[in-house]
Amino acid sequence: MTRLVTTVEEMQALRESARVEGKTVGFVPTMGALHEGHLSLVRRARADNDTVVVSVYVNPFQFGPQEDLQRYPRDLPADHKLAGSAGADFVFAPTDAEMYPAGFQTYVEQFTLPKRLCGRFRPGHFRGVLTVVLKLFHIVRPTRSYFGQKDYQQSVVIRRMAGDLHCGTEVVTLPIVREEDGLAMSSRNRYLGVRDRKDALCLSEALVIGEAAIRNGERKASAIVDAMRERIGRVKRARIDYVACVDPETLAAVKTVEGTVVLALALHLGKTRLIDNRLVAP
Ligand code: PAF
Repeated sequence: MTRLVTTVEEMQALRESARVEGKTVGFVPTMGALHEGHLSLVRRARADNDTVVVSVYVNPFQFGPQEDLQRYPRDLPADHKLAGSAGADFVFAPTDAEMYPAGFQTYVEQFTLPKRLCGRFRPGHFRGVLTVVLKLFHIVRPTRSYFGQKDYQQSVVIRRMAGDLHCGTEVVTLPIVREEDGLAMSSRNRYLGVRDRKDALCLSEALVIGEAAIRNGERKASAIVDAMRERIGRVKRARIDYVACVDPETLAAVKTVEGTVVLALALHLGKTRLIDNRLVAP
């Protein structure tokens, strides 16, 4: 039976018992609406650790004023069941009041990484992510924490924070899980209508085109980005935030592909913002 925990105090007490018993703790932070991508993280946490905690919390501080906080899918009973089926011992699902006590005013700021890629279009987003993840790290004190490569920039900023602030957890990033036709799994895919779903293939297909260009010897980042943009351009209604070829650690745009790069993109289809990426070693 997977136990549902809703208070910080209870979660901390359970974590303390695990410590006393000498158990390792694997942690999968999520905002719920669990899909196969999340479940692959839970299964890996199960395989690597004695105890597995999955958090389900839609963090208001990482949504901009025009973003989808209100309509973000929420179904705790379904998430509880799915997390359990993948091997979670505890589902930690606090309320907003529990996570952000009255008078809350402390945030985590990181200087450079959050300003790149998605950060240019979602001001304050990574401040919200880092703040909630640090709070969760303090509550759960995980031996290992698991994040999906789908949110590539997020995994980089979190790994940086974990090192900078001595969080004492190993940050593990696991590969993107895709639908059969290539679409990266995401909780936001639930928003996609039939036409959006078809058009959304332009993300993964653009990345395949970008990778093929590199494999065929193209080294000029601008040419690779242009080839990806051409594929997206065939979906007239796609509104691009960015298409980029960046360094995997600094997330800075590269001019010439010399080592491994990340091809990354973000675009809007109607009201839905989608992201995807691919790590490519030439
Ligand atoms: O990736 C997510 O679902 C969220 O950004 C996270 C890491 C759970 C923080 O709210």
